[in-house]
Amino acid sequence: MSPDSPDPHEIDLFEVARTLALEAGELIVTAREGIVDVTSTKTSAVDIVTDVDIAAEKHLRRRLAELRPDDAVLGEEGQDTPGTSGVTWVLDPIDGTVNFLYGLPSYSVSVAAVTGCATPEEWTIEAGAVFEGGTRSLWTAARGRGAWLDGVRLQRDPGPGPALSSTLLGTGFQYIAERRALQGALVAKMLPQVRDIRRFGSCALDLCYVAAGRLDAYYEHGLSPWDFPAAVLVAQEAGIRVEGLDGSPPNTTLTLAAPPGTFEALHDALKAAGAAQLWDTP
Ligand code: IPD
Ligand code: CA
Ligand code: CA
Repeated sequence: MSPDSPDPHEIDLFEVARTLALEAGELIVTAREGIVDVTSTKTSAVDIVTDVDIAAEKHLRRRLAELRPDDAVLGEEGQDTPGTSGVTWVLDPIDGTVNFLYGLPSYSVSVAAVTGCATPEEWTIEAGAVFEGGTRSLWTAARGRGAWLDGVRLQRDPGPGPALSSTLLGTGFQYIAERRALQGALVAKMLPQVRDIRRFGSCALDLCYVAAGRLDAYYEHGLSPWDFPAAVLVAQEAGIRVEGLDGSPPNTTLTLAAPPGTFEALHDALKAAGAAQLWDTP
């Protein structure tokens, strides 16, 4: 089924996700041509918020209030908004804000619609869209319907992924120094076991890149709920296995993504390297 003809329930959420990611994407790409100001910091002095993060989230919320007024909203830069429909919109107005500030291309807007519950362990991801700022590309997915890059279907070849030793592995790091030290020690154990490591700086794009085969695999500890649902659906609908440890759903403690075969080897290597106890409180 093409993105133009999903089922009537899905089309609403899919089309809203797609439309809003495109709108906010154009907003942030245009804003990047001017001066970008850091307005505040969050978990540490290097965890920044720019005026454009705030403007993009305000735009997304204003449009959701028009298009889907009964839905809840969980966004990085605003208060949780309750809803009555059972649908929650999960928004990251800029994923990769540090890249955005520095003029690096790996930044994105992430818009997902989830049902069931507003926590990653329990929600069902219905639709997602990730706008890639550096290339103006749009990654989209609708649950059970497929995933697309600029309208072209993403589907990995059947069969197992590469051996761990041939895996190009993406990862990312938190903003809190003590946690980064633990993440650095873990990645040092993984580096000799894989082809190489990449740290692009946008979790959503990392997951989309696994969907497209630009990375073989990805893992990260300490994600926030808004970082990943849209891109998790893109990866899953493209045939990528995305989970936490020991069969748990993708979550904020640890999320890993890889094709079947590679996934199991990565999972076991991460556990052997101490990934299950990286820090006590997520
Ligand atoms: C961050 C990015 C980064 C990841 C961090 C996230 P932000 O999101 O996704 O790649 O390593 O864990 O917090 O702060 O740019 O929205
Ligand atoms: Ca983010
Ligand atoms: Ca963000």
